[in-house]
Amino acid sequence: MKKTRKKIIILGSTGSIGESTLDVIRLYQDKFEVAGLAAGKNINLLAQQIKEFKPQAAAVKAAGDSIRLLKKVSAAGTKILAGEEGEAEMVTSLKADLVVSAITGIAGLKPTLAALEAGKNVALANKESMVVAGQFLKKAASRTGARIIPVDSEHSAIFQCLQQARKKFLKRIYLTASGGPFFRLPLSDLADRSVEEALKHPRWAMGKKVTIDSATLMNKGLELIEAKWLFDLQPEQLQVLIHPQSIVHALVEFQDGSVLAQLSQADMRIPIQYALSYPERLESCLPPLNLAEINKLEFYQVDEEERYPLFFLARKALLAGQSYPVMLNAANELAVSAFLEGKIKFGEINQIVEYCYRQHQPSELNSLEDIFAIDQKTRIMAKQYLNQLVNMKGK
Ligand SMILES: NC(=O)c1ccc[n+]([C@@H]2O[C@H](COP(=O)([O-])OP(=O)(O)OC[C@H]3O[C@@H](n4cnc5c(N)ncnc54)[C@H](OP(=O)(O)O)[C@@H]3O)[C@@H](O)[C@H]2O)c1
Repeated sequence: MKKTRKKIIILGSTGSIGESTLDVIRLYQDKFEVAGLAAGKNINLLAQQIKEFKPQAAAVKAAGDSIRLLKKVSAAGTKILAGEEGEAEMVTSLKADLVVSAITGIAGLKPTLAALEAGKNVALANKESMVVAGQFLKKAASRTGARIIPVDSEHSAIFQCLQQARKKFLKRIYLTASGGPFFRLPLSDLADRSVEEALKHPRWAMGKKVTIDSATLMNKGLELIEAKWLFDLQPEQLQVLIHPQSIVHALVEFQDGSVLAQLSQADMRIPIQYALSYPERLESCLPPLNLAEINKLEFYQVDEEERYPLFFLARKALLAGQSYPVMLNAANELAVSAFLEGKIKFGEINQIVEYCYRQHQPSELNSLEDIFAIDQKTRIMAKQYLNQLVNMKGK
């Protein structure tokens, strides 16, 4: 009898996680098939993907792009959709076993939530949606019975460690961080680092936004908040260690002093493949981990206030709860874009986020509308501060 393949929808298929997911699917075409693809603006790459994988539907951000895309792929028979409505229609109406959520930033929130509300299992890479709306995503998943499988390597590591143990004995978890490209740089040299230098991540090849977040360690702060929601943990149970080799992805400590860790090469195809094949495991296409060759594994405390002030702010937002994580994420998204566009210096990312943090008036989050209202308000505030910084440079 012919085995049925798992049907996969990929949100953010033209990005780093999206492409790695397609690599895994290419390797296991007997196990997985692509049901739907969604991307932002890169319609040339999306057109190639449509021609290769022939999904039932594909969505792009702008309506104008959807018309140009349709012209490129008319022979494939794929239904072309546009905008947030198009993404929502795709994740809701297509038959699929798993939705890989890999759009960057809060833009990934609505389709991720729509997938969970439609009862679809989600492989979650888009940490920002969990940071800003963890309670809403968890509620939707428990209402429909959909499963959220982490893709972030650290959260996949915790998820895997917890398969072997009972959660009630868990004491705390440690997420590891490489420390980014500036871990060993003198503090006095940090503020002026260029975009090119900040994008040279020592271990991982990733999209631009998450690579800058790794250099500031905001990424690890967002991951702490993501872990709180994914694993129902208290802030004091969430710890971070700098581990420059990026081989141990997370550690889970139990009441009796035992610590379980998950180790693998720093390649996102490993946690992506696990999320796709879960609860099964498939042969890896990568060479085996050679610990004797790696030789040593180092761990350090995080210098929160001096070297990584954005991590410090993220930890404060985790403790403060309410609307703080939404504000933090919005200010950071805007500041990182401004840095990538060359408008501000590396050190000024922190200045913008810190400014928004100081000005923020916390409120409860009762709906998705509350989240988007705080997101918008923070972006306006961050933009005003950004303009002041830019104007000062012009003088
Ligand atoms: N890369 C990693 O190794 C890694 C590891 C762990 C977690 N993550 C998380 O995974 C997510 C994706 O990261 P990435 O590195 O893959 O980012 P990326 O390379 O920048 O890709 C982002 C994807 O999102 C799409 N996109 C952006 N804005 C969109 C919008 N408004 N509507 C629809 N699509 C949109 C982009 O489309 P276009 O390019 O076509 O515009 C692209 O396909 C992030 O949340 C990141 O934190 C990434």
